[in-house]
Amino acid sequence: MLLVDIDFCSLADLDDIYAIEEAAHGHPWPYEIIESDLRHKTGQIFYIGARWNGVLCGFGACRREKSSLKIMNLAVHPDFRRNKIGTQLLIAMGEIGIRLGCKRATLEVRITNYAAQLLYEELGFRRIKVIPHYYEDSEDAFLMESPLPFPAISVATKNNGTHL
Ligand SMILES: CC(C)(COP(=O)(O)OP(=O)(O)OC[C@H]1O[C@@H](n2cnc3c(N)ncnc32)[C@H](O)[C@@H]1OP(=O)(O)O)[C@@H](O)C(=O)NCCC(=O)NCCS
Repeated sequence: MLLVDIDFCSLADLDDIYAIEEAAHGHPWPYEIIESDLRHKTGQIFYIGARWNGVLCGFGACRREKSSLKIMNLAVHPDFRRNKIGTQLLIAMGEIGIRLGCKRATLEVRITNYAAQLLYEELGFRRIKVIPHYYEDSEDAFLMESPLPFPAISVATKNNGTHL
């Protein structure tokens, strides 16, 4: 596990975020969308970054939708994977959701993206339904949902008596 620093991203992180986005997704979000989010939607869409020795190695994006936190994106640079960075980013987004008063978190994931599904299930997400042809290449998505705080985190906290 790499213990990373997690903080909010700013426009200064745009190129690094996009490099990770391009490396992580076959169909990356357009650069202009991320730029517009970072410029104009800072109070609505939250981009958080994981930094190791100052280098951005992963990011997540989320927003509140009524009483739910929508996890909109999660990506870790290929060189940094399997170090629990995705897990740390998700936990941080869960904390944002709790502070925004959200009772649950939801997300969509490609039905063939087993790695991400495993990660989400480890934190407490469960599959709710299939959304047919959700992606632009027509692949189906699973809608997944978890209560907040994430069940896995609540159990760990109860067991060792620590607080996040
Ligand atoms: C999915 C992704 C964010 C995971 O990031 P990560 O930092 O490597 O994940 P973690 O190290 O926190 O993984 C936690 C657990 O998830 C599961 N997992 C993660 N990646 C996995 C993989 N490639 N194969 C199998 N299980 C995997 C494992 O159970 C892992 O625990 P372990 O390493 O102790 O076995 C990363 O692979 C990625 O950026 N993928 C491309 C973008 C993407 O699919 N984003 C999600 C869109 S919905």
